[in-house]
Amino acid sequence: MKVGFEGKVAADAALVLLVAADAGMSPAAEAADSASGGQIGRAMKAANFTGKKGATLEILAPQGLGRDRVLLLGLGEPGKADALAFEELGGKVAEALLLKASAAAVDFSGLSGLGVAPAEAAAHLALGACLRAWRHDRYRTTLKDHEKPKLERLDMVGAPGAEAAFAPLEKVADGVFLARELVTEPANIIYPESFVARVRAAVEPLGVAVRVLDEAEMKALGFGCLLGVAQGSARPPRLLAMEWNGTGNAEAVPTLFVGKGVTFDTGGISIKPAAGMEDMKWDMGGAAAVAGAMMALAGRKAKARVVGVCGLVENMPDGGAQRPGDVVTSFSGQTVEVINTDAEGRLVLADALAWAQKEWKPAVVVDLATLTGAIIIALGHEYAGMFANDDDLAERLLAAGEASGDRLWRQPLGEKGGAYDKLTDSQIADMKNVGPREGGSITAAQFLQRFIEDGVKWAHLDIAGTVWKAKAGPTHDKGATGFGVRLIDRFVAAHLEA
Ligand code: BES
Ligand code: MN
Ligand code: ZN
Repeated sequence: MKVGFEGKVAADAALVLLVAADAGMSPAAEAADSASGGQIGRAMKAANFTGKKGATLEILAPQGLGRDRVLLLGLGEPGKADALAFEELGGKVAEALLLKASAAAVDFSGLSGLGVAPAEAAAHLALGACLRAWRHDRYRTTLKDHEKPKLERLDMVGAPGAEAAFAPLEKVADGVFLARELVTEPANIIYPESFVARVRAAVEPLGVAVRVLDEAEMKALGFGCLLGVAQGSARPPRLLAMEWNGTGNAEAVPTLFVGKGVTFDTGGISIKPAAGMEDMKWDMGGAAAVAGAMMALAGRKAKARVVGVCGLVENMPDGGAQRPGDVVTSFSGQTVEVINTDAEGRLVLADALAWAQKEWKPAVVVDLATLTGAIIIALGHEYAGMFANDDDLAERLLAAGEASGDRLWRQPLGEKGGAYDKLTDSQIADMKNVGPREGGSITAAQFLQRFIEDGVKWAHLDIAGTVWKAKAGPTHDKGATGFGVRLIDRFVAAHLEA
């Protein structure tokens, strides 16, 4: 689907008209209503359509307009319609028209009193429509014509300035799409090496500097935790580092994002049950979000210095696999007793976090990981869990979550060496990789904290419940959400570029 900004509504386009709460027709809707001899208003009455936020009403072949289709779109209280609300409205447009119309146009003419400027409203509506329209049909060879997306063009009409406002948002959408693609592709297609290849092809042309560590380099550096996870797989691991510096200052202190990239998680020798194991193809959702965010930031030329690091492994149980009870030495020098090989994400992140801090000396570190099933028990699929060692960073991330729709809920994090840490004390090593069942997401976060250097502001986002959705949402189809890309983009825009 292509977004356009034509001055006029094309003759063959489905016409999308906004209606505020209590049936308040927009000027464009009023004009269409009178051209149709009042047919639009009659249809609204007959359908009891009052302009409630997100409601839609399709009117086919209305008289006097020469179009096959008019879509009324409920705006709710105009003053309360902010950028995120317009994204959700855009999602409704895509949902209603994707399979039905080849062209559509939203007429903003004469609208005022919105919660954001009309240009922003139109740009965010277009973003929402693009996000909701994304699908991954690559392996579906028998789709019938009526099952295939038809909408090729969506025009925003009567909102001067919308094109410029949409330009950076389109780059953000590209980043979301990269993340969704990586998450959706199965593990026979996306494994550490192919993950690197796909991401490299997407971000290098945008000016992102890419560095990759292979197995031998990681061995030489002492990545015992990450390599222990990787050793049961025929697929070699990779560490992918991406740097974008849009500040013009080579010495600017970078902000670091680190992603868990387990391209498939069988559990290893502590193998998972068969039912639902296919979901573990998306155990690289954190790495996908980091890669997508780098693409978004470089694409829109963010004025910030940002480093993204992805720890990429496949967790498999072959004859070389690590055993429960094995002790490994991390890059940091700390030793870990691997009680459960299914608690592998924290092992991968331990080395990725420690190495990246040493390499880049960031002031702020945020990691994203599909780390624990326990966070899904705690929060369901609406919020990701956030653990932070700094209140100011936590507040900023929460605000970015609300603004972007990638919402976070803060969880408790204890002191280093405190009561929560005692739960992962080991008899034989510095720590073990699992605690008791209770508080499983917290002990996982505490484990990561042991690899965060003193003085570094750090947040861990457990996104196990938000990377993949069984049901479609306002701005995503069912499946991969791209969670984290817009969150990082917002966070960077509000706090590093402002
Ligand atoms: N990748 C899983 C976490 C997960 C579970 C993500 C379900 C999405 C849906 C992680 O590697 C894992 O297996 N965690 C274990 C930890 C346990 C062994 C302490 C879990 O949550 O059961
Ligand atoms: Mn696991
Ligand atoms: Zn995992």
